[in-house]
Amino acid sequence: MTIHVSPVRRNLNFHLPKERISRWNGGGPHFTQFLNALSVFFPEGERFFIQSVRNYRDQVTDKKLQEDVRGFIAQEAFHGREHEEYNEALQEAGFPVDRYEGIVTNLLETVKKYTRKDAQLGVTVALEHLTAILANTLLKHPELLENSDENFSLIWQWHALEETEHKAVAFDVYKQVVGSGVYSYLLRTTTFVLANVIFVSLLTPFYLDIIRRDKQLTNMKGWGKAFQYLWGRPGAIRKVIPDWLDYFKPGFHPWDHDNREYLKSAEALESFVLNLTPIEA
Ligand SMILES: [Fe+2]
Ligand SMILES: [Fe+2]
Repeated sequence: MTIHVSPVRRNLNFHLPKERISRWNGGGPHFTQFLNALSVFFPEGERFFIQSVRNYRDQVTDKKLQEDVRGFIAQEAFHGREHEEYNEALQEAGFPVDRYEGIVTNLLETVKKYTRKDAQLGVTVALEHLTAILANTLLKHPELLENSDENFSLIWQWHALEETEHKAVAFDVYKQVVGSGVYSYLLRTTTFVLANVIFVSLLTPFYLDIIRRDKQLTNMKGWGKAFQYLWGRPGAIRKVIPDWLDYFKPGFHPWDHDNREYLKSAEALESFVLNLTPIEA
């Protein structure tokens, strides 16, 4: 059975309490800052995803997929906008987000300048898979957002839900325009490995720099708790390894991991967020 899910546009604002940026997650400063470091990549990364899919928009002939592409672009644009506000809070708290974002921008500009458009789409499909499996962990283990500030918790739930909703869109475009042959498989898997290596080699120094500036480098108890969250129980990173490896199966499709059950809460989440009271400036 082929699964089809249409991405829904939800224009939401999360009115983040900026002063809580470094301590919003119940898992402590180290897990909070891990998620904050991930957020650094979103606005620039999502703009790149949108562009790489737009490059092929005219070649998408399937009506349903054309509609999905529109939904995908809208969702990523809203994510970018909300995470820009998120990252501003991080900048205002004294972390040089501008500098980190500058590095990400330069890298993506270089990719756009020197690589083929199908490889750029490959990078997008690769990073969408990474995002989708991390989003799945967040939805499967709500304890990762337990005892946390509500607004921050909601922005992550919303993002995780929509990443799940649109997880197959860039993939389906890729299949339609690059095909399913050997070249398509090799490009898809090579860009996946490279994108992961580059992403981790940027995320790690950004994260450590944030932790150092937050004066948490020698807080061993804090490291222990974050390690538990990421590699122990629930094990946000440990749990994604099998799904990560599935990308190498020649016939892989993002909906092989059927996690539509989590999308049932989307409507309730949307109406809840619409009723959030803005925080006084
Ligand atoms: Fe996104
Ligand atoms: Fe996405």
